[in-house]
Amino acid sequence: MKIDVLTIFPEFFAQVFEFGIIRRAKLAGIVEISAHDIREFATDKHRMVDDRPFGGGDGMVLKPEPIFAAIEWLLGTSDKAKYPNGARVVLLTPQGRQLKQSVAKELADETSHLVIICGRYEGVDERVNKTLVTHEISIGDYVLSGGEPAAVVLVDSMVRLLPGALGSETSAINESFASGMLDYPHYTRPAEYRGMKVPDVLLNGNHAEIEKWRYAMALEKTKLNRSDLLEGDNGEMWSR
Ligand code: 6GU
Repeated sequence: MKIDVLTIFPEFFAQVFEFGIIRRAKLAGIVEISAHDIREFATDKHRMVDDRPFGGGDGMVLKPEPIFAAIEWLLGTSDKAKYPNGARVVLLTPQGRQLKQSVAKELADETSHLVIICGRYEGVDERVNKTLVTHEISIGDYVLSGGEPAAVVLVDSMVRLLPGALGSETSAINESFASGMLDYPHYTRPAEYRGMKVPDVLLNGNHAEIEKWRYAMALEKTKLNRSDLLEGDNGEMWSR
């Protein structure tokens, strides 16, 4: 998969994809990630990327011209009906559809070239959305100053789902998760730390008992922190 991020803060991405699973996936040739400065595509003498909103109001709005030029450079057209097969253009905005595991999975499965436009909180000219964007995505119900942190979240959630991105060890562990619930608690050595003991059940080697305990603990944690996940219609959320 090729991922191109369009941003007014390209330096933000200088190191953020150089760690862990994303770094390994890059080195293995599973994904190629580039960040591009939207300002580089502005052609006016001041290289303006934003302007005041028509109709008044606070803040600045990202202008359409540089973003159209960037998409034409990356995809060869600014008509989303004519994008190459496997190309998707995501606009990160609080007005988007909320990112879920199922959305990440769908995008990871169907996309060979992902272009991510990082919006500013104040807004992006709506003609970008209408003409260029195939998916409007938000990462949750809170306000970010811009889409850059959301781009990191989206890329991480997708890249780890690409074939070969997870080591066999990690993927086997993930497949053993009870679906539709939060994870169970984990412990490692030492068996006692500052008077706090690891639950006996994890030390006795009885794998049926351990599975039962993990299921019960996962259910308890889910009831406590995310009871919405148990109320149906969320079955797609964590399973894979
Ligand atoms: Cl994608 N952008 C901004 N600016 N705020 C957000 C968001 C995105 N998702 C949640 N809040």
